[in-house]
Amino acid sequence: MSEEDSIAISGKKILLVEDDDAFRNVLRRNLELDGYQVFEASNGRVAQNILGFETMDLIISDIRLPEVNGIELMHFVKRTKPIPIILITGFPEMGLEQELIELGATQYLEKPFKREDLLKLLKDIFGEPSVEEVIKTQTDDYEYCKIDIDDFISGREMKYDIFVRLSDQKYVRIAHEGADLSQERIKSFKEKNIKFLYLKKEDFSKYIEFSLFLAPVVSASHINKEKKFLFLRKTNELILEDIYLNGVNEISFDNAKTVVEATVSTVTAQEDLFKVIQLLNEHTDFLYAHCIGVSVYGAMIAKTLKWNSPVNIYKISMGGLFHDVGKKEIDRDILNKPKQDRSPEETKIIESHPMRGMEILRKVKGIPNDILQIIFQHHENCTGQGYPVGLRKHAIHPMARLIAVANEFCSYTIKNPENPEGCSPEIAIKKILENEPNQWDHNVLSALMEVFNYPIPLEFAKGRVRKKPVENTSEIAFKRKKAF
Ligand SMILES: [Fe+2]
Repeated sequence: MSEEDSIAISGKKILLVEDDDAFRNVLRRNLELDGYQVFEASNGRVAQNILGFETMDLIISDIRLPEVNGIELMHFVKRTKPIPIILITGFPEMGLEQELIELGATQYLEKPFKREDLLKLLKDIFGEPSVEEVIKTQTDDYEYCKIDIDDFISGREMKYDIFVRLSDQKYVRIAHEGADLSQERIKSFKEKNIKFLYLKKEDFSKYIEFSLFLAPVVSASHINKEKKFLFLRKTNELILEDIYLNGVNEISFDNAKTVVEATVSTVTAQEDLFKVIQLLNEHTDFLYAHCIGVSVYGAMIAKTLKWNSPVNIYKISMGGLFHDVGKKEIDRDILNKPKQDRSPEETKIIESHPMRGMEILRKVKGIPNDILQIIFQHHENCTGQGYPVGLRKHAIHPMARLIAVANEFCSYTIKNPENPEGCSPEIAIKKILENEPNQWDHNVLSALMEVFNYPIPLEFAKGRVRKKPVENTSEIAFKRKKAF
């Protein structure tokens, strides 16, 4: 049994019939906190309609109700489909309890009653959640996507079911499509040490849709930057999770564009870039954090180089986000191995990721060729020692040279299996300069130093020519060797 097994989840459906809105709301919330799915009706007529299309495990009904009262509802239920019913009243009379039970009520409660009294009655009716109930939820893990409970965005009338995972292949639904998963209920799960909520894989895109709907709003709003970054980081991670699980298509590429644009437009100052590193280092998946970092720092380097046109920034930030997409086809155990422990065969597999990535994205209609070049060439280096082709500086696409520097910078600053601590931007730049700086395009490297206010060494400054602002990529002159 996992620690999550201790959670009180019944999955039972209760129809709550009460015309006093305030009382009904309190009661609903309490029942939901204990894991019941609650359907509400303000009178017996509405309850009869709900029973026409939804099977319930229990009815809790007030006696005095407009139109069809609780007693009439009880007779209706007895005639149609017998379901246990608890009647409640605010006007107790002598002998009423006995009379109601003789008439067919399962239990009777007088208002006001304590929460524990109701819970005790429910336990008498349903018993403890049985092992059978849990086994019924058994299913394959690959059918679900997890979301950190702290990151979960709830809303009214969610478009999907939400689950918690009890143990391997055992999931229990805690909220139905159309229901409202309240903040209080999420809080109660956290108190029970639940760390993740789960969605069915086929519903994941609906959740992303909802986050994407919020992304531009959050980016343009006046909430503090920390919260904005956090939200955008999480949305970027969702997009990458979707891409790593389901692959890339026009829709997921378009979704990525929305969130990348919101992210890049939110990061405007140097101080933001330091915060982004901090936030990325609180990641749950190093691969996603790395790709988000390369996208954001790539865009900042491009701005510093005055490659300012929105088309250039878009291509670079998308190239950054997707540069390692080829790794989605590679076993995580191989990816997590430190370089020195990899066999020659494993190294070959890892070095195939630029080609794999380009093949994956090539299938998406309308992908700009510049993005494909970034993905294919981001491990080439100016000395001709890179892979997959071994191109030299001027044969490498300028955007790929830029992403190569952002990639190297992020491999130092953002935690990963080879670098479990992560280091500051200053130390990262220092290491890049110490380790064969001629691998990198010096203009790009100088721009990176400028972004972080790092003193640019004389030999770099001398050689650096500030370019005029470039409006689109066709104006970036480069000679390209035939790579494919
Ligand atoms: Fe890579």
